[in-house]
Amino acid sequence: MRVVMIGTGYVGLVSGACFADFGHHVTCIDNNEDKIERLNRGEIPIYEPGLDDLVAANAGAGRLVFTTDPKKVVGEADVVFIAVGTPTRRGSGHADLRFVHAVAEELAPLLKGYTVIVTKSTVPVGTGDEVEQIIRKHAPKARFDVASNPEFLREGAAINDFKRPDRVVVGTESEKAAEQLRALYRPLFLNETPIVVTSRRTAELIKYASNAFLAVKIGFINEIADLCDKVGADVQQVARGIGLDKRIGGKFLHAGPGYGGSCFPKDTLALSKTARDYDAPVTIVDTVVRSNNRRKRSMVDRIVAACGGSVKDKTIAVLGLTFKPNTDDMRESPSLAIVPGLQKLGATIRAYDPEGMEEARTLLKKVAYCQDAYDCLDGADAAVIITEWDQFRALDLKRVAGLLKDKVFVDLRNIYTREEVQGTGLKYHSVGRPG
Ligand code: UDX
Repeated sequence: MRVVMIGTGYVGLVSGACFADFGHHVTCIDNNEDKIERLNRGEIPIYEPGLDDLVAANAGAGRLVFTTDPKKVVGEADVVFIAVGTPTRRGSGHADLRFVHAVAEELAPLLKGYTVIVTKSTVPVGTGDEVEQIIRKHAPKARFDVASNPEFLREGAAINDFKRPDRVVVGTESEKAAEQLRALYRPLFLNETPIVVTSRRTAELIKYASNAFLAVKIGFINEIADLCDKVGADVQQVARGIGLDKRIGGKFLHAGPGYGGSCFPKDTLALSKTARDYDAPVTIVDTVVRSNNRRKRSMVDRIVAACGGSVKDKTIAVLGLTFKPNTDDMRESPSLAIVPGLQKLGATIRAYDPEGMEEARTLLKKVAYCQDAYDCLDGADAAVIITEWDQFRALDLKRVAGLLKDKVFVDLRNIYTREEVQGTGLKYHSVGRPG
């Protein structure tokens, strides 16, 4: 099939490369010339494990093409995906649909023959209707259907998530469009991946409801972790104990410094806003949003307490800055609340992150960025693990203790056990586990 992917951001690029790998002919379009030039040179603008090889192989085979010019390819396409950004509109919490609307307007006059237009960007309920109206207005004779096909890709695991998804969601009232999309995803159905075909509005809501539910799970276990701290229980064992109940499930029950990233914070806000607009508030989600924001800030108090009540004139080594491992993404990362919070209280910050430091330099000032974990720890009073990168999971803890003046070691991701730390001389603090 001939596929056009409009928008070569995270979702567009990963999806485009994966569709090409399925054997489809994919053209990725972006209006950013510099980005397209770089992609044509084989440079990948984001950090995603495996994506460079996937792009190189499919571009080399002629199945994956990058261009700024939609004119010819849109007319020849069977399916056109809209995968442009939908940032949060300043001040309102609403998703900003300017780019989605602009693409709909631009592609309308280019359509030839029957085409399925698919929104892949996370868009509020009813956006498919708007896209349809815009295209209809600008190309009254065009033959097309608009469908919703939300993505569920985790950064750092996106290729696997695309190729081995738990389900594919397709939202359309048109049987013809559903058939086209079934054909597009056919390689997955050989592995019996469930396909959920729904109305367009339902599919749009499934995306928000999924992300909000996962955010609720994280928010829940984080509050349980705080309770564990108070009553002397172990949150990891609580998570295991409840997660084995299949109705609950064990995933997304890791307590930590709060969720970040480009999706959960934005999508929970957008859902909450839509729900209020329709007078059906999602108060549980509203509470989790507040709880998560509070949580990120409260990590500062936790670190201060671990340091004996003050971080004034202390040097804190921060390991991990990105919102999660295997990404260079700093968006809404807990580090953005923790580092300035500690600086405000008079701490000096040294930091190391395997992929996030370039971006971090623009966001976190007056930080000494280091070569590696041990360089970062060298001469600091205390250390804090904010992101659970693999390379922080097997540190030589005796060496760590030797490098830290006060030997305070705060593990906000619970990647070590008390037993592992015992005998190293470190004063170990984790989240929701008994001291
Ligand atoms: C998420 C969704 O998982 C994905 O399906 C969606 O389409 C995009 O948003 P992503 O933001 O890449 O993916 O990361 P994810 O792995 O879901 O983690 C989100 C945040 O939650 C991270 O900050 C992570 O550290 C945190 N988290 C996750 C926890 O604190 N505890 C957990 O148990 C799981």
